[in-house]
Amino acid sequence: MDQRVSQAFDALRAHAATVKKLHLRELFEQDADRFPRFSAEACGILMDYSKERITTETLPLLEKLAAAAGVEACRDAMFAGEKINTTENRAVLHAALRSPTGTVVTVDGKDVMPDIHAVLVSMKKFSDAVRDGRRTGSTGKRITDVVNIGIGGSDLGPRMVVRALSPDSSPALRVHFVANVDPADLHDTLARLDPATTLFVVASKTFTTMETMTNARAARAWVADALGEQSVGAHFVAVSTNAKEVSAFGISTDEMFGFWDWVGGRYSLWSAIGLPIALAVGFDTFAELLKGAHQMDRHFQEAPVGQNLPMLLGLLRVWEIDAMGSTSIALLPYDQRLELFTPHLQQVDMESNGKGVMLDGLPVAFGSGPVVWGSPGTNGQHAFYQLIHQGNRIIPCEFLLARKSRTPIGDGHEKLIANCLAQSEALMRGKNEAEVRAELTRQGLSGEALEKLVPHKLFTGNRPSITFLYDQLDARTLGSIIALYEHAIFVQGTCWSVNSFDQWGVELGKQLALPILEELTGGKRGSHDASTAGLLARVTS
Ligand code: F6P
Repeated sequence: MDQRVSQAFDALRAHAATVKKLHLRELFEQDADRFPRFSAEACGILMDYSKERITTETLPLLEKLAAAAGVEACRDAMFAGEKINTTENRAVLHAALRSPTGTVVTVDGKDVMPDIHAVLVSMKKFSDAVRDGRRTGSTGKRITDVVNIGIGGSDLGPRMVVRALSPDSSPALRVHFVANVDPADLHDTLARLDPATTLFVVASKTFTTMETMTNARAARAWVADALGEQSVGAHFVAVSTNAKEVSAFGISTDEMFGFWDWVGGRYSLWSAIGLPIALAVGFDTFAELLKGAHQMDRHFQEAPVGQNLPMLLGLLRVWEIDAMGSTSIALLPYDQRLELFTPHLQQVDMESNGKGVMLDGLPVAFGSGPVVWGSPGTNGQHAFYQLIHQGNRIIPCEFLLARKSRTPIGDGHEKLIANCLAQSEALMRGKNEAEVRAELTRQGLSGEALEKLVPHKLFTGNRPSITFLYDQLDARTLGSIIALYEHAIFVQGTCWSVNSFDQWGVELGKQLALPILEELTGGKRGSHDASTAGLLARVTS
């Protein structure tokens, strides 16, 4: 690791030793300007990081780390189409997918923008035709249901966006998602559908992924059994980079929506992988999503580090993980329609930065990707928040909250806001012994009964959080929020000097599954450890 980077980390750790002795409650009492000092705004998103365990000395040190790690230079290299994914020798250009016409982005001497816009035009044409009933199934009936078959990045992103933008979706066209190779997933989805009015989108960058191809073949048989082999073409389209395999499956390449090797799976919802989004909410709304992401791209490229939301989020996470010692981050949208945001971000974050070696192949010198988990508020409050408030691990929390509900009912949204703000306040303040004693006394307790309860009712507080506040969850805002997180993850990966764009860690399990499958289907016995052999013997007995 570069010496300047390791010195910057050392400086952060030395500073952390001081900060750990401070309490957020006191920091707020001492500084009336803490909120304006430690908040920033862009693309309609207010980022309040005043409840992070930081002082005025922290950000300059983080900025030094960013400079030493060359974050801005790496960012510029990514946007310029340089092959920063070195282990796969690929450019990383999901940002180009949301760039307007007129932009030029060159890879291997070729401007990629005309191809991007050509695919967008064909997505618009196709989604319009399905939505207005011109593109029918083989019997001439209107398509009422779309089933996206894909997994990982070919599932989680579009699934999350379709859920998040449900107020924009057409009731005349339902969009479903099947991912798991567990036949229960496909079975339970198809049980509700009519083959004559169902369209399948087979979404796979490689078109070889075991889960997707297994489900796609089963769906194909379901259509062929009901409507005849000649009907298959009218009920299947593909999103892939692999034209050869798409044709071999029986899907015309006229209805194959392409993308490119420089789009990572987990960053692909902006490409043709977003076709189910365009089908669900209409192409114009999909275009709004792209615009929101592009606005955040510009902000990330142009704003100074101290006002730059993705830079701040990425650097503050590095601070919490490397200097303050946290190992997991709770991602807590107080927005029910973001219920799939955390699962999507789990892939983006953990597949990107869950690495054990740096770009130079040496073991990571500092932290790397945290465990990312969580579920929407207020549900989580009645489940795992106990541990966040009183457990002995410090879990930095990230709250997402809309000022307005798109579909208000009664005072539900005000109650949602009250709960979100109360949680971050409680995490920050805690409840000290004097407060607990006073409260118990007010409740009529005294003596031994009171003493016994005091330790159980204490809240240490000083637990960090960041709150993102936006007006409402529309397509443009959602695009900006997703791009913000994508870039923050890139900032972290750059500070840790890991390749955030490969995913070799998913390979070993895939490889070992193949001979086990062979054994399960009567093939030759392999050699396994005693545990695996014992389990296999029990399954096949
Ligand atoms: O197994 C991991 C992975 O390669 C992801 O990175 C990717 O999003 C997913 O599988 C699906 O891959 P494909 O789109 O090629 O089917």
